[in-house]
Amino acid sequence: TILVLDFGSQYSHLITRRLRELNVYSEMLPCTQKLAELSWTPKGVILSGGPYSVYWDDAPHVDPAVFSLGVPMLGICYGLQEIAWHFGKNVLAGEKREYGHAYLKVESHGDAEMGGHVDKLFKGLEGDMEVWMSHGDKLSHLPDDFVTTATTSNAPFAGIAHRHKMLYGIQFHPEVTHTPRGKELLKNFAVDICQAKTDWTMGKFVDQELARIRALVGDKGQVIGAVSGGVDSTVAAKLMQEAIGERFHAVLVDNGVLRLDEAKQVKETLTKGLGINLTVVDASDRFLGRLKGVTDDPEKKRKIIGNTFIEVFQETAKKIAAESQGSSRAGEIEWLLQGTLYPDVIESISFKGPSATIKTHHNVGGLLEGMHLKLIEPLRELFKDEVRELGTNLGIPEDLVWRHPFPGPGIAIRILGEVTPEQVRIAREADYIFIEEIRAAGLYRKISQAFAALLPVKAVGVMGDKRVHDQVIALRAVETSDFMTADWYPFDGAFLKKVSRRIVNEVEGVCRVVYDITSKPPGTIEME
Ligand code: XMP
Repeated sequence: TILVLDFGSQYSHLITRRLRELNVYSEMLPCTQKLAELSWTPKGVILSGGPYSVYWDDAPHVDPAVFSLGVPMLGICYGLQEIAWHFGKNVLAGEKREYGHAYLKVESHGDAEMGGHVDKLFKGLEGDMEVWMSHGDKLSHLPDDFVTTATTSNAPFAGIAHRHKMLYGIQFHPEVTHTPRGKELLKNFAVDICQAKTDWTMGKFVDQELARIRALVGDKGQVIGAVSGGVDSTVAAKLMQEAIGERFHAVLVDNGVLRLDEAKQVKETLTKGLGINLTVVDASDRFLGRLKGVTDDPEKKRKIIGNTFIEVFQETAKKIAAESQGSSRAGEIEWLLQGTLYPDVIESISFKGPSATIKTHHNVGGLLEGMHLKLIEPLRELFKDEVRELGTNLGIPEDLVWRHPFPGPGIAIRILGEVTPEQVRIAREADYIFIEEIRAAGLYRKISQAFAALLPVKAVGVMGDKRVHDQVIALRAVETSDFMTADWYPFDGAFLKKVSRRIVNEVEGVCRVVYDITSKPPGTIEME
C-alpha cells in the first residue's frame, strides 16, 4: 500500500486514482495523520499538493515520524516544499504564481556514487517532457544533500532528489492528464522505487472488504441500511448480504414519489435476484399527506421528504430490532450502512492548521442523530465507475448498474407546484414513456440523466375534434461527466415527435409536450 497524505490540493484524489489504475493499492489520509495511529506500514509515501505556503503560521505539516519511516517518499508541489522545508527550512521564494503547461528538462546523474536511486524517478522519461504546473511558492535553492533532477525555464528546481535517501520532490503535477507521461513517473515511484505490489483488482477488493466487514461486525452484530434502487445503495447492500447474510437488513421506504412501479421492481430485484433481506415500507400516504398544499417552495418539499424519511426509517429500524430480539441471530443492530463514495469522503476531509478534523459525510443527513448507530461505508474507497465494476462483479443486473441517478426527493421536485396523487400519476406515466423510448433508441447510456417533469400550467389543445384544456409535460435529458455542468441532449426530430405523440395519446391529462433546452449553468438538472 502507498500512503498518500493529502494537503488539500484539488488534484489529490487523482493520485490515488492513478495508482489504482496501475493496480497498486493506495490510501489517502489527511496530511496530519499520526503515523503511530496507523495499523499498517506503507511501502511508500506521497505528499500531495495543497493551497498553502509552508511559511504560513497555520500551514499544515506532516508528522515528522514520516521522515524516519525509512520508506521512499515523493513530494508533489506543496509536498516538495514540505520536504525541502523539513531539511532546509529557509529554501523558498514566494514570487509569482505559475499555472499551466511547462516543459521539463530531466537531468540524469549516472549516479553509481549515490547508490543508483536518484535517476529512477525519471527512468524512461529522459529528455523533454510536458508537465502541468500549479503553484505559488517554488524552491530558490537546494536543501543540503539534495540534487536537481529536473528544471523548467521558470523553476530551476522542478525536480529534486536526496543524495542518499529515496526522497524525491517534483514541482509539477504528475497525476493530472495535462502531464501526459505523469502516470509513468508515478509507476516509477510506486512500482520500481517502492516495490509496491501491482495486484490490486476488484476481485481482491471484494475479498478484503468482506473480511473487513465480518471482522468489524462480528459474528452476531446486525446492520441496517436504506436502499433506493440506485447503483450505490444496491452495491453496498449486496456486499453486506455477501458478508453477513440475513444479519443485514435493507429498508426501502416508498415515499409515494418514486417512479412508476419502482418499489415493486426494486423489491423483486433485491430480494429474488440478489437475495437481500429487504423490508419495504409503504409510507406514500404519510409523505403525500405532508406535501399537500405546498405549492411554490421547492426547499420545503425537500425538507418534508427528508424529515419524513428519517422518521419512517427510524420507526422501521426499531421494529426490525424488536423482531430480531431473542431470535438465534440476535445481536444488537449497531451499524448503519451507507453507500458513501470516495469523492464524498474527499469532499468531507478537511483540516484547519495542524489538528485534523474528519467530518463524516452523511448521504441522508440527520439519520445518525438519535439512533446510536455506528457507520459502515464499504464503498468509501471507490469511485463511481469502480462501483459499477464492483456491481457487475457481484452479479447485479446491468440495467441497475448503469441506472441514471434519481434524487432522494423523487419526482416531487419534478412536479412543479403542488404534489397531488393525480399529478404524481401524470408525471410517472410520462416519465415511463420517455425512458422507455430512450432505451429503445439505444441512447440510455449516452445520456447521463433524463426525466419528464410536469409544469403547473394548462394549455389548450384539440384532440379528436374536441377542444381540451390540459397540462404540459417538459422533457429533460442531459449529458454530463460530473453533474456540475451539463448540456441538454440533441435528440433528432423524429425521436421527439414519437415521444410527444405517445405521451399526449397515452397519458390522460396532458395535451402538450415541450423539450427543455437549458444547459447547466444557468439551469440545474432538476427543475426544482
Ligand atoms: P441539480 O438539479 O442540482 O442536480 O443540477 C445535480 C444532480 O443532483 C441530483 N439532485 C439530488 N439528489 N437529493 C438527491 O439525492 C436532492 O435533493 C437532489 N437535488 C438534485 C440530480 O438528480 C442530479 O443528478
